[in-house]
Amino acid sequence: MKVCIIGASGKLGRYMVQHSLERGHEVVGVCREKSVYKLNDFKDRMTIIPGATNDRNVIQQAVQGCDGVLTVLVPWGVNNYSSGTAQAVLDFAEDDARLVFSCGWHISMDGKDVYSWKIKFIGNVAGRIIRWLRLVDISDQEEACRRIFDSDTRWTVVRGSDLEEGESQGLPVWSRHVGDPILESNMTRRIDFALFMVQALENDNLIHEAPAIVGRSTPSAITHAADAGK
Ligand SMILES: NC(=O)c1ccc[n+]([C@@H]2O[C@H](COP(=O)([O-])OP(=O)(O)OC[C@H]3O[C@@H](n4cnc5c(N)ncnc54)[C@H](OP(=O)(O)O)[C@@H]3O)[C@@H](O)[C@H]2O)c1
Repeated sequence: MKVCIIGASGKLGRYMVQHSLERGHEVVGVCREKSVYKLNDFKDRMTIIPGATNDRNVIQQAVQGCDGVLTVLVPWGVNNYSSGTAQAVLDFAEDDARLVFSCGWHISMDGKDVYSWKIKFIGNVAGRIIRWLRLVDISDQEEACRRIFDSDTRWTVVRGSDLEEGESQGLPVWSRHVGDPILESNMTRRIDFALFMVQALENDNLIHEAPAIVGRSTPSAITHAADAGK
């Protein structure tokens, strides 16, 4: 499989490069010019296309001929970075390509997610403050996801919980709605978030789903598995 990773130099992106290479995929990565060095460990085994991830020409070149596109949606700045990236991927990816996008639990596909006060606070109060500081625009990540949900491409939007570093615990478990008991622990290893993204490329059951994920070794995931076995 030929896979394009957009945002390849970030923490999630580098794990996705690693998993993709381990699975034998041919990898093309897009990252900002100043971050190319972060991919030094992989540079002999992948193609790197330097450029802004919302540069339509860069994305058009990168996704050409790719069977799968993994996109790290980041709400940086206030220049429609997320929605620009998503729109370019939707417009230029091959018709039958699998498209997998990352975001957080704060994105809701159908409005049926139930959020804790902490997530609501981050979305409402903190979100407004950081937008005012012109650092991060969460509403643009929401706009990006709305465009993805409305598209007829073969998409999956993977919604990450809080993240931590550490060794892999294996493929995270998932549920359709934040607030479901299995997700209560709200923690996933970043390396496993990346694993879920890469494996989603080959899991057609996840097409047109927005799975909210949690680490498979967290207490809520273990409890739920135990309940299911009763
Ligand atoms: N962090 C969390 O706790 C958390 C929780 C749930 C979900 N998520 C989701 O996980 C994904 C990865 O997030 P992450 O926090 O783990 O970060 P990450 O993987 O390190 O990715 C950050 C990305 O943003 C780029 N970036 C940084 N500053 C930028 C700027 N000023 N302008 C343009 N691009 C910039 C980075 O590129 P460079 O390498 O060029 O800097 C990198 O590609 C996102 O989709 C996020 O919504 C994160």
